[in-house]
Amino acid sequence: MQKEEQVLKNIWRELSLSLVESGHPYHIFSISTVYNGLPDARSVVLRGVNEEQKSINFHTDSRSKKVYQFSKENSVCALFYDKPKKTQLRIYGDIHIEDDKDTILKKWNDSKEMSKLCYLNKYPPGHTLSASRDYLYNENDLKNIDKGVENFLIINLNIRKIDWLFLNHKGHERMLIDLKKNEEVKYEWIAP
Ligand SMILES: Cc1cc2nc3c(=O)[nH]c(=O)nc-3n(C[C@H](O)[C@H](O)[C@H](O)COP(=O)(O)O)c2cc1C
Repeated sequence: MQKEEQVLKNIWRELSLSLVESGHPYHIFSISTVYNGLPDARSVVLRGVNEEQKSINFHTDSRSKKVYQFSKENSVCALFYDKPKKTQLRIYGDIHIEDDKDTILKKWNDSKEMSKLCYLNKYPPGHTLSASRDYLYNENDLKNIDKGVENFLIINLNIRKIDWLFLNHKGHERMLIDLKKNEEVKYEWIAP
């Protein structure tokens, strides 16, 4: 296997590992948007990796600002950094909100109660509050925790390009990996 292909294989392997390995550096990543010409970014938890479909996904509240931003501009950048392995990934692609009901329900049912609770909050993320915890669900809401599924979204990021950077004292290495759907993968070494 060529070195370039090995790099891509490792990227998929590490992304997948982060779903099951506690504390893996790729578990949390940053997803950036541009809205009205202004940049925005936030941390999210990596929830799914699909090498065949060339996509990754995370979960969010349908009422959050980022979801509105995706509807206006679905081109995004996701940033990962693995400190022990000195590897940065900048993943570029397009957002596609999951619309398959069975997939959504399965993910919801597989979610921990603690994760489900976030979707029960009375107010959308970013809503003004009169006190810091005024948004929290009340005891009564807990009896029907699955109501939260109404606010639960799976956000797929269909990958177009990966900018891989490996820091090395013998010389850093950086490569662009073009992953356009239904096309052969293209690799290009670039200066770090
Ligand atoms: C470690 C960490 C993990 C987070 N994971 C998620 C997540 O998986 N999904 C999510 O919507 N927000 C997550 N958040 C909160 C977001 O960073 C952000 O504050 C929130 O989603 C509102 O973002 P928005 O206003 O851009 O929509 C996480 C925050 C931190 C610090």
